[in-house]
Amino acid sequence: MKSITGFSKLTKNEKIQWLASELSGEAAQLVSQLPSFWHPDVMTQKKFDEFSENTLTNFNFPFGLAPNFLINGHIYSVPMVIEESSVVAAASLGAKFWMDRGGFKARVLSMTKVGHVHFLWAKNKEDLKNYFNSIKQDLMASLKHLSFNMEKRGGGILSLELVDLSDKLENYFQLKLTFNTCDAMGANFINSVLEQVAASFKVRILRDLCQNIDSNDFQIVMSILSNYTPECLVECSVSCPIQDLGQFPDDMGPHDFAQKFISAVRIAQVDTNRAVTHNKGIMNGIDAVVLATGNDFRAVEACAHAYAARSGQYQSLSEAKIIGDEFHFTLTIPLAIGTVGGLTSLHPLAKTSLMILEQPSAEKLMMIMASVGLAQNFSAVKSLITTGIQKGHMKLHLLNVLNQLGASQNQIEQAKIFFTDKVVSFSAVREFLEQNNTLH
Ligand code: MEV
Repeated sequence: MKSITGFSKLTKNEKIQWLASELSGEAAQLVSQLPSFWHPDVMTQKKFDEFSENTLTNFNFPFGLAPNFLINGHIYSVPMVIEESSVVAAASLGAKFWMDRGGFKARVLSMTKVGHVHFLWAKNKEDLKNYFNSIKQDLMASLKHLSFNMEKRGGGILSLELVDLSDKLENYFQLKLTFNTCDAMGANFINSVLEQVAASFKVRILRDLCQNIDSNDFQIVMSILSNYTPECLVECSVSCPIQDLGQFPDDMGPHDFAQKFISAVRIAQVDTNRAVTHNKGIMNGIDAVVLATGNDFRAVEACAHAYAARSGQYQSLSEAKIIGDEFHFTLTIPLAIGTVGGLTSLHPLAKTSLMILEQPSAEKLMMIMASVGLAQNFSAVKSLITTGIQKGHMKLHLLNVLNQLGASQNQIEQAKIFFTDKVVSFSAVREFLEQNNTLH
């Protein structure tokens, strides 16, 4: 492909035409069909285009619903955006299972977010510490105009401290600020505050401490929020008498199930290989709600995995145990999300999702997301320790394979019947279609 300058200045049609002209055959044809994915409403499409840059078209994902989530006594139907078959089904099954056993009990443990001004200071540490203490109130006051609105909503800047990390990296210090951003994810607010405090700090240091020092002695390196938010934490659990867990396939009784379940979760606490997959199952549910509500799934993912490794050993985010004759299953996870601002109000489907969820506060949405993660994890581990994952998975995958192989509606219906009691594999489906290619 040729390089191009001024691509961003082209209209959307010109961008598509340019790309098609650089390709040939099927690729060129597919690219020229990209407008068929545009939204029919011009203004809605304009919104989508403006979420990003160099937009050509929309990339559609299924928007599904997992009903029957009983969380703290209230029933939610949870919108989920995910392309992987069986995730919404697993969440729904998990929700229904626990709805009949008291539902999910969730609580937010803390809502604190954090950001840092990272800087280098090569001079006397005590001078810096004393000086920081003498201007701390001043610095806080210099942020008032930025934090005023957030304070009115009950949040704002919670603390400002100087952190000495020079034992880890020569001359390295931070201004560490903590925040409560209420129902907003708060990235813009936090970053604006950090850049402002960095500027105020620099002016004061240069004025009061640095007249005679070399510019290399003091340098602000960067100011940015941290996506690691271990203090923006939610806990969700389910529990019931072991007896109430019921019977499982192959005559597995509730006690054997509970024990095997606990072993599976313990394995994910000691073995990284299993822990990553176990946590991926949790994130299958959480990411789908994060996406449906227009939140930042990269931030949520990055944070969840860092939190899972906080002890130095990457571990399961969930924990299962037996207390007396009760089975308990708990998920504790940091979730820095929002229900106002950003994409949550701009994306029409994010807005719809939040309305389906009855306009939750950020705290409520954290609890809903954690419940979906726990339901998902429960269903995955339940399948793994009983029937195995492929049975349910491939049944749902059947439709994808049939579509991929260009099956007609009639063939799809026949295949669903044919595979009811058979193992679904790509080759088995292909063979079925070859043998039934007269079914149209
Ligand atoms: C598949 O997307 C997720 C699982 O692998 C999770 C797990 O193994 O716990 C089924």
